[in-house]
Amino acid sequence: MAHAIVYNTFGGPDVLNVIEIPTPVPAAGEVAVSVKAAGINPIDIKLRTGMRSSKPITKPRRTGSDAAGTITAVGEGVDGLRVGDDVVIFSGHGMYATDVIVAADHVQHRPPQVSAEAGAALGIPVGTAYQSLRSLAVREDDTLLIHGGSGAVGQAAIQFARLWGATVIATASPRRFDRVKELGATPIAYGPGLEDRVRAAARGGITVVFDAAGTEEALDVSLAVAPDRNRVATIVRGADAAGLGIRAFSGGSPTPLSEQQVAWRTEAIPVTLSLMAAGHFSVELAGSFALSDAAEAQQLVHDGADGKVTLIP
Ligand SMILES: NC(=O)c1ccc[n+]([C@@H]2O[C@H](COP(=O)([O-])OP(=O)(O)OC[C@H]3O[C@@H](n4cnc5c(N)ncnc54)[C@H](OP(=O)(O)O)[C@@H]3O)[C@@H](O)[C@H]2O)c1
Repeated sequence: MAHAIVYNTFGGPDVLNVIEIPTPVPAAGEVAVSVKAAGINPIDIKLRTGMRSSKPITKPRRTGSDAAGTITAVGEGVDGLRVGDDVVIFSGHGMYATDVIVAADHVQHRPPQVSAEAGAALGIPVGTAYQSLRSLAVREDDTLLIHGGSGAVGQAAIQFARLWGATVIATASPRRFDRVKELGATPIAYGPGLEDRVRAAARGGITVVFDAAGTEEALDVSLAVAPDRNRVATIVRGADAAGLGIRAFSGGSPTPLSEQQVAWRTEAIPVTLSLMAAGHFSVELAGSFALSDAAEAQQLVHDGADGKVTLIP
């Protein structure tokens, strides 16, 4: 029998329960995957609490988008994927589970250099960072300010921007400065005086801003230092972006992602897996929990973990 995490009502971590589910069987165009690791993202928590609106709950609701595992069955019409293949799953549904079904086009082979936990850390953070920086047309003559540079999305964004030749200044807690430096960015602390620190760190000025923090301070400083609001984007305060004249990619934005933006989120996964296999991209892991400890794991993410937290079914 397979198991999955579900919730029947919006609320705190204690609404998460493990239930038995039938062993999933893939339909045409799908594969079944035995999950080795599932990544926890802040959106899982926002949806669980009801902070991010979603449809009313009418049946036990599964959660989790990102995972890595091994294919156990292949549906009709699926090419290039076989039973036994190690894969990374992105844009999945209900990945907090021992066994899942996923559309074959949401699966990529996992190279041996990439652990299951690292593979489970990619989908949402890497897809969002890559798409956002592509949408902002970040290039080598840019000086990019990232709010939340020490987080999963921020760390991915630093690495893409550095690979594309940009100079990066990234906010983080001082205890996280070493990690931000290691990725090639100049770390600065968020908090009072942030605008002065940004200006001191970016002598030639900031040309583009990526907000993965979503605080009033991050938005205020972004507007103060950026010469062009069309090159300021938030992934957290999507509902406020239009009023501020800045861009938003999901994060509560009423404007859906464009086809190109969705394509970039997908493209990010094989691009990142290749970079990781070559040793040019890294993921920070904070630790893993048993599936039955999903509530504790989500609480750690909510409180602020240093790296990606995963569930190991
Ligand atoms: N729109 C989208 O498609 C999309 C996709 C992915 C994520 N998101 C959102 O983006 C945000 C970041 O996601 P994530 O996965 O990177 O989360 P994460 O790994 O938990 O990172 C959180 C980041 O926020 C920073 N932070 C915490 N308190 C802060 C404050 N008061 N001021 C400035 N920065 C602060 C943390 O810095 P320290 O740890 O150094 O203190 C860390 O860098 C979340 O709100 C998430 O829901 C949106």
